[in-house]
Amino acid sequence: MKRIFSGIQPSGNLHLGNYLGAIRNWISLQHEYESFFCIVDLHAITVPQEPEILAKKIRDLARLYVAIGIDPKVSTIFVQSDVAAHTELAWILNCITRMSELERMTQYKDKAKKQRENVGVGLFDYPALMAADILLYQTDLVPVGHDQKQHLELTRDLAIRFNRDYGEIFRVPEPFIPKLGARIMSLQDPLKKMSKSDEEASGSINLFDSPEDISKKFRRAVTDSGTEIRFDDARPAITNLLMIYQLLTDKQTEEIEEHFIGKGYAHLKSELAEVTIEFLKPIQDRLRAIGDDELDRILTDGCTRAESIAAGTLSSVRERMGLKGVRRARH
Ligand code: AMP
Ligand code: TRP
Repeated sequence: MKRIFSGIQPSGNLHLGNYLGAIRNWISLQHEYESFFCIVDLHAITVPQEPEILAKKIRDLARLYVAIGIDPKVSTIFVQSDVAAHTELAWILNCITRMSELERMTQYKDKAKKQRENVGVGLFDYPALMAADILLYQTDLVPVGHDQKQHLELTRDLAIRFNRDYGEIFRVPEPFIPKLGARIMSLQDPLKKMSKSDEEASGSINLFDSPEDISKKFRRAVTDSGTEIRFDDARPAITNLLMIYQLLTDKQTEEIEEHFIGKGYAHLKSELAEVTIEFLKPIQDRLRAIGDDELDRILTDGCTRAESIAAGTLSSVRERMGLKGVRRARH
């Protein structure tokens, strides 16, 4: 069975973009692939985090994975820092990664701008850790939103370079970027993607938002000039709203455009709010129903499964590189 691996950082609030661009595909792919879904807490600490809040967010994200439809019986759900192999392989990959490759990463450049003089080495090195996450599991496919494409290309380059220099060890992964939903835009600025770190809170619908907040945010969403409701690249605000509507209802483009003929923007917004509230309600209910013990069991199980596979890859890597200390059996 082919494998998929993906992860989300337990920082900020999960929003509809995260669901529509990434998690939605995880749910459908998990039955065709052996799947690993990680809570990438070591990536989260590349920018400052409050320890108690981070600890809570890690568990909240794990709970959300389950509530939203990732089935722990068929998929492996685990916390990155629980599996030490990730950091060890990241170090090894550091040694074959070039400064110039990391300097080119747009996510780094964006985040570094926000941090100014306090840019950590971890933030710079973030893509090498991400490559380690993926390569440890001999991953075939990585379902992510469009913003991760560049990181995936680096991962592939590192795998190919390692295989060339030390012999075939890593499978070279392919990105899986959905045709629809890979870039959900901010409700306040349709030229910016919906983002966890959005200062403008009303620009993103969080998965934990109350029905009132959801209605309010859609009501306040910016629109384009004109009155027609149809998909049109020249009218990014309405197209973004329609895209969200389409992905949540699974309807065809023509059907949607026909449905909204003669109706105004206010109507679209209120229907969209209704659809979103209906979609999130059962997820929020399930979230509350997952107890701490159940969550602990899922994460312990996940960690054990992940560790056994990661250890195998790492031991081949160590062997090939001549890292043959006295404790070779150690992973
Ligand atoms: P992040 O929020 O950066 O941890 O991203 C987690 C996952 O959600 C990644 O696969 C991203 O590519 C995806 N993602 C984040 N923001 C969006 C967005 N606005 N539209 C679509 N996908 C997104
Ligand atoms: N960098 C990804 C993001 O911000 C998160 C991530 C870390 C990831 N490791 C990964 C995604 C491995 C896919 C595979 O969204």
